[in-house]
Amino acid sequence: MTPHETGALPGQKPAEGKWGRMFSNHTFDLTMAKAEGIYLYDTAGNRYIDVSGGALGASIGWSDPRVVEAMREQAGKFTYVTPAMANEPRADLCERIARLMPGTLNTTYLVSGGSEAVETAIKIARQYHIATGNPRKNKVIGTWDSYHGMTLGALSVAGGAGYRHAFDPMLNDSPHIRHCRRPTDRPLGVSEEAWGRTCALELEEMIHYLGADNVSAFMATPVGAGKDYGLVPPQSYWTTVREICDRYNVLLISDEVVTGFGRTGAWFAMNHYAVIPDIMVTAKGISSLYFPMGAATVSDKINEPFTKGTYFIHGHTHMGNPVGCATTLAVLDVIEQDGLVQNSAEVGAYLHTLLRERILPHRPIADLRGKGLLAIRELVRDKETLEFPPPEAEPEVLFQAIAYKNGLSFYTALYGPRRPSAMKRGVAIFITPPLCITRAQVDDLVERLDRTVREWDRLIDQ
Ligand SMILES: Cc1ncc(COP(=O)(O)O)c(C=O)c1O
Repeated sequence: MTPHETGALPGQKPAEGKWGRMFSNHTFDLTMAKAEGIYLYDTAGNRYIDVSGGALGASIGWSDPRVVEAMREQAGKFTYVTPAMANEPRADLCERIARLMPGTLNTTYLVSGGSEAVETAIKIARQYHIATGNPRKNKVIGTWDSYHGMTLGALSVAGGAGYRHAFDPMLNDSPHIRHCRRPTDRPLGVSEEAWGRTCALELEEMIHYLGADNVSAFMATPVGAGKDYGLVPPQSYWTTVREICDRYNVLLISDEVVTGFGRTGAWFAMNHYAVIPDIMVTAKGISSLYFPMGAATVSDKINEPFTKGTYFIHGHTHMGNPVGCATTLAVLDVIEQDGLVQNSAEVGAYLHTLLRERILPHRPIADLRGKGLLAIRELVRDKETLEFPPPEAEPEVLFQAIAYKNGLSFYTALYGPRRPSAMKRGVAIFITPPLCITRAQVDDLVERLDRTVREWDRLIDQ
């Protein structure tokens, strides 16, 4: 019997009664009651630090009264507008995004989440090429092991084996290259910058194989994906990728669903590189998960044909939902007023230092990666051998159960369906708390994490 089954740790939620009516059930026998700041509370009154900021998306604290009031106010006025009528919160939000984004990323298509924003970007790129006389350009190059969402277009471009294979016959033919590889793969004597360029040249090679005339775009997250989740590429990687895209008229789509709106200590992770994509995809942190919201924002160059008669063949019932837009505007106000991007950079640097000192030395912690308040910890059985416990031991469930007992809530339960690829490499555990976290709260978080890793190391073999 695992400690989890003995009742010493939170058990799994029984799929009975109304709990069994949901297609996809919860993992634990805990029910959410309320959330405030960086804390979550269950109906038994237990408090947990929201270590992963919901699903890596809390850019402000939970239940901020300024946002709750804005939601209430808009809901009291009107909650929906058809495209036949102007929607002021939508225009205000698009204008705000244009002010925050770099370069000429000035025009935004609003949708309901990350996957929809990814689909939107793919379709904008395709129509841009048709409208500018390159009708053969259709392929979107993605990176192996990446994640861009669960819709079929997003799955096609993403490269994660665990969630693709069942749908393979239904996916489109999107080629994949490797994202920037780990510094540990770098051959001796090769500098980091030279290595970044070498990794980026895989894109040029793939464009040659496919023929530039057939390639519409390259889509990737600014930091590593999949097994290298959170890896921060050197400057030369993104500079070279940008040059290659320009050379072959391949649009650069940056998926900033996780990194956008302050997560890495800059408004957008691409800002660290001063590289401006042609299309930026955002979601999650844009509305701090207070409302389903996603955005595909294009540069003036990409927008131009759409101002000259090209009709964008797209549309969702909830694009630019007024309550969503008012909520998102209020969230962006809070990020700006409370200096949360700066906080992410400063408290994030402190967090990385503490994790390196206190958590990395443990036997099950293979690596620590990230920037700002994006910290990824890779959990394995033994970092010397990179061995991982068998899936039957439910190592990630045990980890989460111990964490709950210690007052920490993680976004690890999702590793269930994604397990096949994750398990061969260790589980990426996301330390991505709300961007308002303080140093004292980071101290508390790391203390509890230290205890959790020690207990997991002890219990996993029993
Ligand atoms: C990088 C990235 N892109 C896209 C998505 C899809 O977003 P959503 O779950 O809102 O559809 C996610 C979700 O985790 C993501 O991490």
